[in-house]
Amino acid sequence: MEQQGVSVVKNYRIVVLPGDGIGPEIVEAALEVLDTLQEVIGEFRLSYQIHRAGASLYQETGEPIGEEAIEAFRDCRVALKGPVGLPRVRKPDGTEAGLLGGILRCGFDLYANVRPICLLPRVPGPLAGITPEGLDYIIVRENTEGLYLSRGLGLVTPQAATDTMLMTAKGCERIARFAFRTALLKKRGAPEDGKKRVTLVDKSNVLRSFAFFRKIYLQVAEEFPEVETECMYVDAACAALISRPGHFQVIVTENLFGDILSDLGGATVGGLGFCPSGNIGETHAYFEPIHGSAPDIAGRGLANPTAQILSAAMMLDYLGEQRAAEMLRSAVKRVWAEALVRLEAGGWVIGGSQSVTRAIKDMLLKAKGGAHEIR
Ligand code: IPM
Ligand code: MN
Repeated sequence: MEQQGVSVVKNYRIVVLPGDGIGPEIVEAALEVLDTLQEVIGEFRLSYQIHRAGASLYQETGEPIGEEAIEAFRDCRVALKGPVGLPRVRKPDGTEAGLLGGILRCGFDLYANVRPICLLPRVPGPLAGITPEGLDYIIVRENTEGLYLSRGLGLVTPQAATDTMLMTAKGCERIARFAFRTALLKKRGAPEDGKKRVTLVDKSNVLRSFAFFRKIYLQVAEEFPEVETECMYVDAACAALISRPGHFQVIVTENLFGDILSDLGGATVGGLGFCPSGNIGETHAYFEPIHGSAPDIAGRGLANPTAQILSAAMMLDYLGEQRAAEMLRSAVKRVWAEALVRLEAGGWVIGGSQSVTRAIKDMLLKAKGGAHEIR
């Protein structure tokens, strides 16, 4: 932005948590791409505070994240995070150590976990006859309660174990409202018929907690007459996401169901390597791929960084840099559309992480040269 010879460059302070396994390499890829994007756009600067977090830190210190990193996030309010967790690093109760959901999602009340499921051009998905125009929805996963609130709190005896699902009126209401607002903000309606539609996915035919959620959801729905309201049981929703994905625009659901459904959705768009997410609250947010840390391929440059890079685009949207976010998303789309990067049969990206990173950077630089309008 030029104003009478004075250039105003906005500066954003971002906490970066590279995480475990493939985390550091895909986060590095995302930062490289963000550097190029800033160069091309020239209107803002991102400055990073990089902190270790996750299972390898837990192994060393007994904590998955340090006070300094938590304070940095409290202060900066935005973070870009890689996947965390290593399968062998466990707590005494058998659950994975190194996870940050309890600390970051619940600790900062990041109640909306936003997970766009979107098929990119030329990425081979497993569903016959589905094109990118026909598969494009967002899962809004409740992120602070539901069954996962019980993490670390379940009761275990030698004979039996229990975890408790909690739904609060406040929690149900705010996530329902978030989903309807998301439906209104999203330019396109459901691919099938163009309608703005929010589908609540629950199991209210069996469990009271879900019936409670549904009742509140239907009350909130009345505030949004321009959006179609729909309810579906989770088993039926699994089937519909495979047989009729174009029906969906926005899905809102409980924490555990959202975790499961988003991996199901990820599989329909060529794998979790294409699925970004945002954990969003009233004051803080962080952005991460929905996949894990894949320690089996870590350090070999094989990982697909697309989900991490698309998470960075979601972060830019959140910061209000929509033009940059759009440009980045378009560049990602275009490198896949033009087959500048491709997947091997096994799902690995040909040429590894670096080939994707380089292709996206080149695409952004081309846009700067004006040689191409990216769309
Ligand atoms: C996710 C992940 C996490 C979750 C795990 C790592 C705790 O699977 O973000 O979907 O269950 O929420
Ligand atoms: Mn998950």
